[in-house]
Amino acid sequence: MSDILTHIDAGVMTITFNRLDKKNSITSTMYAAMADAVAQAATDTAVKVVVFQGHESIFSAGNDIGDFLNKPPSTQDSPVFRFLRNIASFEKPLLAAVAGPAVGIGTTMLFHCDLVYAGDNAAFSMPFVNLGLCPEAASSLLVPRMFGYHRAAEALLLGEPFFAEAAQEVGLVNRVVPPTEVNGYAQAQARKLAAKPLSSLIETKRLMKGSDQQAVLQKMAEEGASFGRMLQEPAAKEAFGAFMDKRKPDFSKL
Ligand code: COA
Repeated sequence: MSDILTHIDAGVMTITFNRLDKKNSITSTMYAAMADAVAQAATDTAVKVVVFQGHESIFSAGNDIGDFLNKPPSTQDSPVFRFLRNIASFEKPLLAAVAGPAVGIGTTMLFHCDLVYAGDNAAFSMPFVNLGLCPEAASSLLVPRMFGYHRAAEALLLGEPFFAEAAQEVGLVNRVVPPTEVNGYAQAQARKLAAKPLSSLIETKRLMKGSDQQAVLQKMAEEGASFGRMLQEPAAKEAFGAFMDKRKPDFSKL
């Protein structure tokens, strides 16, 4: 079965991470499938709302590290960047149901969702510095804006996880429910939205986002250039090598 499942029902497209044995980590093939699904949802009149979901034990472990090493995103047309641009510019409502760990892009993609529901086992983290990298998905713009600078610095510089209650407190999460209920709860909310007039949903989202979109896309491009460069540098090589060898990274000489 595919690592990304896409399903349309009652006006709701559900995109499911389906790679449990690798903790729903995301390969470039999966990014391409998700970018295509979101592009289809943007124009398909049968789709009014999109929901991302994972499993009750894990949302996503972020980028597949081995795949990232083999096929680093070298241009702005790389599947990961295409996926990020597609969700950032998506005009219809975008929802996420998150249970368990949401690492790296598993967390940063949520800043592009309109509604986020979390299991009480959700653990969000953006460990880019720990991997010798820098933020992506315009998170260097959107996290400080939502969390306030100091809490953003804690999340992005220390890269430590924060949990469902804290995520709700800062406004990243709308509601916390038991992990076994999170996908069903998000579906129910999505169906409520899908029963509303699409033109009003789109216009309301456009008005709320305002002139922000250009700044978001510009920040993504800027981060993407730094991220691509840093992937080739010694700190990232050490961090990724350590992950593959199942040891702690040693940055003491860098
Ligand atoms: N890329 C590739 N493989 C990954 C992965 C990733 N991001 N995350 C987990 N896996 C793989 C592991 O290598 C392991 O594979 P194996 O069974 O062949 O050895 C399998 O998934 C299970 O992972 P494991 O670490 O044993 O699961 P866990 O439940 O103890 O921990 C996580 C889950 C998500 C906390 C942990 O896997 C993790 O921290 N992963 C890395 C996250 C990360 O740094 N992402 C990059 C962000 S840019």
